[in-house]
Amino acid sequence: LSPARAADSGARPVVVAHRGASAYAPENTLAAVDEAAALGVDWVENDVQRTKDGELVVVHDDSLQRTTDVEEAFPDRAPWKVKDFTAAEIARLDAGSWFGPAYAGARVPTLEQFVHRVERHDQKLLLEIKNPQLYPGIERQTLKVLSNEGWLDRPHVKHRLIVQSFSADSVRTVHDLKPAVKTGFLGTPPVADLPSYAAFTDQINPSYASLSSGYVAAVHAFRGPHGRPLEVFTWTVNDADAARRVAGFGVDGIITNTPDVVREAVGG
Ligand code: G3P
Ligand code: CA
Repeated sequence: LSPARAADSGARPVVVAHRGASAYAPENTLAAVDEAAALGVDWVENDVQRTKDGELVVVHDDSLQRTTDVEEAFPDRAPWKVKDFTAAEIARLDAGSWFGPAYAGARVPTLEQFVHRVERHDQKLLLEIKNPQLYPGIERQTLKVLSNEGWLDRPHVKHRLIVQSFSADSVRTVHDLKPAVKTGFLGTPPVADLPSYAAFTDQINPSYASLSSGYVAAVHAFRGPHGRPLEVFTWTVNDADAARRVAGFGVDGIITNTPDVVREAVGG
């Protein structure tokens, strides 16, 4: 069931593996995509940033410190910002040992590598453009990679891709560059502002902590740029009670580190 149909019908929310199945494998690695696939989860979320030499890579923090061995590998390069390392330097880092010895040697994937793995599993991609203020032009560049990989062709662009960001400017830019791409805004704009968001975004994706059934209904009342009711994908819901609660609010998607737990709780 597509998210759009879910919004129309009040059906069960889709389940999205946040940074891959990140409770069970190191976040934003190919192993986390594989783990989501092994759990039968077809939507995967990730975070896209850019290296010093202009390669798009999949990593959440603006620093490599938390999720790689960069501090050990490059002790004199604090604060280890993604934007200050080349793609070759990042490709050498261990992005798995911090999570557990079974994942030693996992790498920070390029966006291209990540997309290939999602494609191999026949999954769908909720791509977050992370910290776009640090990376001028990252929207166009992201769309170029997706285009090269065939993800802007039908039926990918129609059914298998959503591009989201906490930056409304970034979401609007993606929409303006490629109106066919479904987009999501991460946040909880006031209801009075929703009409202006509906001009460029298909989804309003809030933290579940501040969510209510009234807000979800208010979002659903507006139609997005593709003429369908705005959808709500909420994050990051990792326990069964919270999953049941937000499903009861009528959300269209639940973004979770524990997709097995959420699916068990709400179906989908
Ligand atoms: O997809 C929603 C969620 O990923 C937003 O927060 O910090 O995990 O990227 P964050
Ligand atoms: Ca994210």
